Amino acid sequence: MAKRKIRILGDPVLREKALPVKEIDGQLQQLIDDMAETMYEAKGLGLAANQVGEKLRLFVLDLKQREGSPELLVFINPEIVATEGEIYEEEGCLSIPGYSAKVKRRAKVLVRALDREGKPFEMELEGLGARAVQHELDHLEGILYVDYLSPLKKSLFKRWWKKHKPR
Ligand code: NI
Repeated sequence: MAKRKIRILGDPVLREKALPVKEIDGQLQQLIDDMAETMYEAKGLGLAANQVGEKLRLFVLDLKQREGSPELLVFINPEIVATEGEIYEEEGCLSIPGYSAKVKRRAKVLVRALDREGKPFEMELEGLGARAVQHELDHLEGILYVDYLSPLKKSLFKRWWKKHKPR
């Protein structure tokens, strides 16, 4: 396994739409393992493929690592098939280090995807898990959570980022 470099806001790959995964082979599984290692090392909750420069519809999540019982979840070609309710909570992103802001998300989602072996599955998530899935799916569309900020908060964020962007 190898750690990958996490792309930071301003990198054009974060704004590109990821393409469907066509083949789940050893090379893709290597990428998945690299993404998992990169996510754990950065202590992130989730990581999308384009955050490490790969334009593929794939993300990894671990909702339990902070409780000390890691459980890696792999979502290949994910789609949200149903949603319910609304929540407004603080979010952050490994591609925008040091910043967080509240955004509106659906409270519950039903996701359909393929796992690391290519087996289809469905998963119902709520709260933190639902938010994480929506955040990572946005990455695959080239969307970042700061895009949802109000014009005022967005301009404050842009000023903050100018000062705090990692060099
Ligand atoms: Ni993110």
